[in-house]
Amino acid sequence: MSKPQRQLHLGLFLFSTGYHPAGWRLPEARADGSFDPRFFIEVVQKLERAKFDFFFLGDRLATSATEQYSFPSQMVRPEPFTILSHLAAVTEKIGLIVTVNTTYAEPYHVARMTASLDYLSAGRSAWNVVTGADSRAALNFSREKHWDNAKRYDYADEFVGIVQRLWDSWEDDAFIRNKETGQFIDESKVHAINHVGEQFSVEGPLNVARPPQGQIPLLSAGTSERSQELGAQFSSAIFTGEILLEEAKKFYAGIKSKLAKYGRKPEELFIMPGLVPLVGRTSEEAREKYSELSSLLVTDFNLTALSNRIGIDLTGYPLDGPLPDLSLSTLPDDKAGRLAGLAQRASGHEDITVRELFYYFAATARGHLLIVGNPEEVADQMEEWFVQEAADGFNICPPYMTGGLDLFLELVVPVLQRRGLFRTEYEGATFREHFGLARPDNRFEKKAALQGAAE
Ligand SMILES: Cc1cc2nc3c(=O)[nH]c(=O)nc-3n(C[C@H](O)[C@H](O)[C@H](O)COP(=O)(O)O)c2cc1C
Repeated sequence: MSKPQRQLHLGLFLFSTGYHPAGWRLPEARADGSFDPRFFIEVVQKLERAKFDFFFLGDRLATSATEQYSFPSQMVRPEPFTILSHLAAVTEKIGLIVTVNTTYAEPYHVARMTASLDYLSAGRSAWNVVTGADSRAALNFSREKHWDNAKRYDYADEFVGIVQRLWDSWEDDAFIRNKETGQFIDESKVHAINHVGEQFSVEGPLNVARPPQGQIPLLSAGTSERSQELGAQFSSAIFTGEILLEEAKKFYAGIKSKLAKYGRKPEELFIMPGLVPLVGRTSEEAREKYSELSSLLVTDFNLTALSNRIGIDLTGYPLDGPLPDLSLSTLPDDKAGRLAGLAQRASGHEDITVRELFYYFAATARGHLLIVGNPEEVADQMEEWFVQEAADGFNICPPYMTGGLDLFLELVVPVLQRRGLFRTEYEGATFREHFGLARPDNRFEKKAALQGAAE
């Protein structure tokens, strides 16, 4: 079979205790990786051996002790720049994605830190731009409340524009370093940005030279209209949490159709849904692990969230009884039936109980698609999403660590490679090169060239 033109892109979205809320309770699972530098190194080096595009750290600026049964991996974790700077030193090819929340930051700081990480990693960094999914952050940053969506994205739009100009404030060839003459730089190649806007005034130039990638790639992950516009304008990849194929295809087509108005082509933006692969050597082995994880959930089986999810009030339905008539759901387009279909597929049979439906959505409470199966079954679903243009790649969220990751790397990646869907060697060494993205010209350099031509 000839090699398809498009290939999947794969990254790891790290949840140190596993994506499944009970992942850390498996006897073989790491429960204490978050604060062990060796854990991070072991994981990132495995990913690099498997030729992954990137290692990604999300971030929030608040926590509480009450999340232990729902989201233990997010309660405590080290700061992403610090970890990634450490990992840059023990890897050579893999991309490193840092999350920075613009709502509680300053563009000059962020331009400086991201550019520094790009230097430490020799051009492997990327920035996941978030405006803050967690409103409690406001209380940690001397504010009374988290801004609304419009204000957060007004701020983010201006913020990103400033950071991008700061990255360009030094032309690539600004450094002369002539030992004989003593000239260190060419002053005409260093530019102030003189930004005065609604939210910020930033003079520049940045005190870090232009990053190795020129412009560091941006990623975004929002669902609102404003976030999608930000993604269409600036991002190289968009992370999504869509779990139904038809909806994912609509999202994919919708975002790609927005690109033209920003002068961009569809192949310049990659759509990457999250995926939780629960892999076994056989389907039975995968299902056994799924049952084991489900049985380890600490829950009072409150059905409110699940009722909202499928649009049917489940209170009063016996946990071990059959599902109600899903056509009664308030959701359109048989969405409830299709959501239940995901749980049926994961459970391996059609006649699932309310309890089994609960287990599936408890495992995916944070919104990503859980696939339970043998390597071929997992690869089949990935291929289906890829071929049908619901995804350009996946943000892999292993359900438990590190076994859940190991099985994916050992068993599923080779299947994808055999099918020609995933690389067997790195062709490049920077984040941009992994995605086939050109290194942009410096906007100030262009201006200088134009002025030169006019004179
Ligand atoms: C895969 C993925 C990763 C995300 N990572 C973060 C994160 O690390 N920090 C954060 O504050 N929000 C994160 N978000 C949330 C989004 O940035 C966004 O705020 C949220 O989806 C709500 O959308 P909106 O901002 O358009 O309203 C993530 C979302 C997705 C789908």
